[in-house]
This record gives sequence, C-alpha cells and structure tokens, in this order.
Amino acid sequence: MEIKENYHLKAHNTFGIDVCCRYFVESDREEDFLDFLSSYELDPHEYLILGGGSNFLFTEDFPGTVFYPVMQGIELLSEDADTVRVRVGAGVVWDDFVLWCVGHGYGGVENLSLIPGHVGAAPVQNVGAYGMEAGETIEEVEAIDIKQACRVVLKADVCRFAYRDSIFKREWKNKYLVTRVVFRLSKKPLFRLDYGSIRSEVEKQGGEVSLHSIRQAIIRIRQSKLPDVKVLPNAGSFFKNPLVPSRIAESLQGQYPSMPVYEVDDEHKKLAAGWLIEQCGWKGRVVGNAGVHEKQALVLVNRGGADGAEIARLANEIKKSVFVKFGVWIEPEVYVI
Ligand code: EPU
Repeated sequence: MEIKENYHLKAHNTFGIDVCCRYFVESDREEDFLDFLSSYELDPHEYLILGGGSNFLFTEDFPGTVFYPVMQGIELLSEDADTVRVRVGAGVVWDDFVLWCVGHGYGGVENLSLIPGHVGAAPVQNVGAYGMEAGETIEEVEAIDIKQACRVVLKADVCRFAYRDSIFKREWKNKYLVTRVVFRLSKKPLFRLDYGSIRSEVEKQGGEVSLHSIRQAIIRIRQSKLPDVKVLPNAGSFFKNPLVPSRIAESLQGQYPSMPVYEVDDEHKKLAAGWLIEQCGWKGRVVGNAGVHEKQALVLVNRGGADGAEIARLANEIKKSVFVKFGVWIEPEVYVI
C-alpha cells in the first residue's frame, strides 16, 4: 500500500476542485487498512473516506488523511428460486454494478442507473432515484471499525436507511470504512415505473418492459436533465428535498397550488428543493465561475475554474433566498469540507 503525501484531489471530486490532502491512503485490500489503523490512531475529524467523490465540495485543503478503499469484484454468494445474494467491492463503480445486475436479469437497482460514485457509498448515502433506494436491496455491509482496527459485518436492520440517510451519516459517522456490500437481488423483478416519466419513456422505446428497457429509459431521462460531470463538473443534487411538518406543506400549497409535495407519513411531507430554488429565480443563473444548472435547479455547477468557496457561497445565497421566500431551510446533500 502506498501512502501519498500532499496529494491533489482534483481527479477525486466531481466538482473538479483542486485541493490537497495531507495523506492519501489507497488500497483494494482490507488488510492494508487494518495494518495502517493498528499503527496510527486518528481522531474522526482527522480523516475522511472518499468513494467516487461525487458528493463532496472541498472549500480548502484537507489537513488530514483521505482513505480511498477500492476493493473490486462482484461475487455471487448464493441463490434460491427467487433471489440472489451478491457481494460487491466498495471500489466498484456503482453504475458498472447496475449494468452487471441488468445483464444477469437481477432486479432491484435498475432505477439507480447512471448514479455516479462507488458501491461503498451506497449504504452511507442510501443512494436513491426514481422511486428506488439502495437500502431496499442491501442485506449486509462489511466494514472496518476504524478505531478498533477490526472487521465487522453490519446487518441492514442496524443501518437505519432513510431518505438519503443512514446511521453512517449520524451516530456512526466516520466510525466505519465500508469495504464490501452484500445485496439481495430479485430474479423475478417487480418493475417500478410509476415515478415521473419512466413509464412513458419506456413505452416510447416500444417493445416489452424489461430491466434493460428501464435502464435505457432512466439513462435517457438523467442525461436530458443532469449535466455530465466530464463536461460541466457538478455533484448531482446539491441539496436534499426538505422534510417539513404537513401543516407547513399544506399552507404553502394553499399559497402555491402548483408546488410539488410528496407524502412521507402522517405528520411530514417532502418538498421539491429544485422547484423551490427555481421559484426563487436561480435556475440557469451564472455567478462568476459557478452556476445553477439550466435544466435542474438542484444541481450547482463549476463552469470552469471555480474554487470550492465560490460554489459554497452560491449555495448559501440560494439557501437564504429559499428561506426568505418560503420559510423553509434546505440543507446540502453534498458534504462541504
Ligand atoms: N423541479 C422544478 N425545477 C427544477 C427541478 C425540479 O420545478 O429545477 C420539480 C420537478 O418538476 C418535479 C419536482 O421538482 O415536480 C421533483 O423533480 P425531479 O423528479 O427531477 O426530482 P428531484 O426531487 O429534483 C431527486 C433526487 C435526484 C434523482 C431524482 C429522480 C434528491 C435530492 N434528488 O431529484 O438525485 O435523480 O429525484 O429520482 O432527492 C442526486 O442525488 O444527485 C440526484 C440527481
């Protein structure tokens, strides 16, 4: 295992921000991280764990250690008449895994096609899109307990998966380094076509509904709305859709009848942050080297040469203006470092 010093992270964050970290520790072997962690004791604020870097905004150099676990491999563990269990390395590119599942006829992640990032981030972030969340198919998370320098296996029921959330972002933040994820996928998938325009997009292609046709439809929808990080660096949705008490959602809906509102439970509803931001006039706005994407107001972009602080300032302005107009605080989904 190589430990790099004063390492540039530009290629490791999809905003393309050129910052350095003090140490960069990359390996595809659990043993390497265990050895490293048994030799050095680190406080949680002294390190961060990077996957595909699609959920970070670096505003300055990181003075600590970046762990970059890149375990590879997709391994079939077992199967029965209806399901298969597969074990996937944390460093596998998420969309390569989705493609593999679709190719083998295994359902459960097809609506998550083209989401950027690595498999190791899926349980942390509970990645989700188009009516599906990774947490629904995750059975176990294999990880390293950073403080104890030992391996653990965490069952899905302790992970507390929720909308863009899990225990790994809360009580267990920076406690574990995910090394592999075990998914249970379906050999008799139930297709989910009811979110947004998926059904009509699938029908447009003609032919039958299949994992493959759903994947193609989702790829087309995403490509039509979300900018390609290689062309216009970004981190996908910058903000989460805010959860608000139902009475607030209802009162806002009275004022703004066209406002999208999603049911959550008896007491809460979710609002569409993209819609709120667009109503504040931000969609397509350019501020210096940063900007708000013209087709999806949730996405902030680096138009070239922006530094992280410039993007963070824009995010703050957006956040304030949404609060002033709607009385709702929106929170970043992206980690701002
Ligand atoms: N909307 C606007 N203006 C905008 C964007 C959205 O009015 O600029 C409205 C839409 O018309 C729609 C509603 O807001 O009525 C929701 O929009 P959309 O279906 O595009 O989804 P989203 O809530 O904006 C979420 C995820 C995306 C995911 C899509 C599809 C979050 C924070 N974002 O976006 O995830 O692809 O749903 O499932 O939950 C990501 O996390 O990086 C990401 C792209």
